[in-house]
Amino acid sequence: MKIVEVRHPLIQHKLGLMRRAGISTKEFRELAAEVASLLTYEATKDLETTQAQIEGWAGPVHVKQIKGKKITIVPILRAGLGMLPGVLELIPSAKVSVVGLQRDEQTLKPIAYYEKLTGRMDERIALIVDPMLATAGTLVATVDMLKAAGCKRIKGLFLVAAPEGLRRIEASHPDIEIYTASIDERLNEHGYILPGLGDAGDKIFGTK
Ligand code: URA
Repeated sequence: MKIVEVRHPLIQHKLGLMRRAGISTKEFRELAAEVASLLTYEATKDLETTQAQIEGWAGPVHVKQIKGKKITIVPILRAGLGMLPGVLELIPSAKVSVVGLQRDEQTLKPIAYYEKLTGRMDERIALIVDPMLATAGTLVATVDMLKAAGCKRIKGLFLVAAPEGLRRIEASHPDIEIYTASIDERLNEHGYILPGLGDAGDKIFGTK
């Protein structure tokens, strides 16, 4: 599986700022969007382009255009919404397919309570966004859902990933690509990433 830990100095610096105890909602939110933009830049490096001829200021000119159907961004509720503005800043015409999952109390498996995918998923690249790749239970279920809708190319963007979650997604969906600002040390007994960021959803939305 392709796993990219993006070690760009800007990403590392911004992620370091996000790890501070007591960071404000405003600053966390801004940094989440900024790191999401930088991860998007990295994750879209291999998009195919085609040549097109357009009318330029001094006559016809050949330019490159991104090939194929528009990308769909897939924010996982609720924390994934915190990365959405940063991704949209670089891909403003992307379609957004929102998914929400919660744990079934009986089976303990994540089940979708919200799924609003855009059309022609079989022709699009899906960019899943979620700040924390922890146990990967939600990610596995989201990829299952996208593949069931016909999606063939799936990339996931995460601010922080845990080794345990990376192993789990690799075992279930080795064909997807993961981009993260940091592969952290481990999960604690409550499923939080260490050193991590704490509860990313609470920090983005200012809840506790
Ligand atoms: N979700 C979070 O918000 N933080 C973690 O560390 C793990 C999952």
